Amino acid sequence: MAEELSGAAIRQRIDALAAISAQADGLTRVYLSPEHRHANALVSGWMREAGMSVRVDAVGNVAGRYAGHDAAAPALLLGSHLDSVADAGRWDGPLGVVSAIACVASLHAAGRRLPCPVEVVGFADEEGTRFGATMLGSRGLAGTFDRAALAIRDAQGIAMAQAMRDWGLDPDRIDDAARPPGSHAGYLELHIEQGPVLEQLGLATGCVSAIAGATRLRVTLAGEAGHAGTVPMRLRHDALAAAAACILAIEGRAGEETDAVATVGRLDVSPGAVNVIPGGVAFTVDIRAPRDAQRHRLVTDIRRGIATLCGPRGVGHEIAVTHELDATPCAPWLMARIDDAIGRRPATRLASGAGHDGMALRGLCDIGMIFVRCAGGISHNPAESVTDADAEAGARVLMRVIESFA
Ligand code: HGY
Ligand code: MN
Ligand code: MN
Repeated sequence: MAEELSGAAIRQRIDALAAISAQADGLTRVYLSPEHRHANALVSGWMREAGMSVRVDAVGNVAGRYAGHDAAAPALLLGSHLDSVADAGRWDGPLGVVSAIACVASLHAAGRRLPCPVEVVGFADEEGTRFGATMLGSRGLAGTFDRAALAIRDAQGIAMAQAMRDWGLDPDRIDDAARPPGSHAGYLELHIEQGPVLEQLGLATGCVSAIAGATRLRVTLAGEAGHAGTVPMRLRHDALAAAAACILAIEGRAGEETDAVATVGRLDVSPGAVNVIPGGVAFTVDIRAPRDAQRHRLVTDIRRGIATLCGPRGVGHEIAVTHELDATPCAPWLMARIDDAIGRRPATRLASGAGHDGMALRGLCDIGMIFVRCAGGISHNPAESVTDADAEAGARVLMRVIESFA
């Protein structure tokens, strides 16, 4: 059995990457950080050991290329992201990168080459943890990086363009990361399911049918700070009370849908003093749905609800869209190869409520995804975990799909 694909070998590398964190008591690794650079260096070494040539592109992705018999043939693209959410689990992203490298290492160890080149990419920013804009690495590779994002500032007030320069990238050269149309035969990503379906079915792996569309909003409410002891309730313009009403209304509206979700994940209050009526609030909304029209209706209703609730309170509101990607279907021909590689009939297809880099790559090439069971479906949480047996099962399915390109 190819040692490289063993669950223990995969876990050992997952743990090595998890140790690269800005957070002393957990895992946080964000775009253009020292940890990003360190993770790229570690992964570059694994890629070279697997016989790949390696480079870091103009938006910070680390990319390894394993030559095929025909250098000019469209390359099979593999990979996932190396960045994380705050206080993250260690498998979300790295499992796809480590497993893809293991498969190439297995080819290399056997002295095998495919007709086409094989590329593995560790995407630099899929989560959007630092700047809010997401899939920056895959958008850069697809040639759809939105230059307006360069002006976004992180929590320390550092603009993305400056963070790029500080990290050693040139924001004026982003386009260098873009891959030419037709340069890739397809994109194949292995990822933890981040949900409970495979575990409920008692299955280690499944084939993804589509990725839900997503819209992220940043809502800013402007009320009036005041003395908590002297301003009568009826005269207040309390931004936090308004936000609370909005957040419950958002939860209620999303709850009317059966297969869409909306989440307020972040809330900032100013001035944040015990005896001051909050004058300003900012919060995020993450809205997902399998159908784009459904998501657009949900966004419209949420916008309308915020206006209706803030107006009578004399609280102003501004709503900015910080991220938006349509629902992305997986390609039937890639799903068929994944089904064959899993080797189970009827095939297990599941939709992804989580976003993935394949959404940004749909304009470059067809996409396919393999899901691997994770305990309790828990993700974006340090308790995220995958058994060695399931990690190995996922890598072997990925290997069989790669071999279908032979
Ligand atoms: O937010 C997501 O769905 C993904 O984990 N970035
Ligand atoms: Mn994630
Ligand atoms: Mn992910």
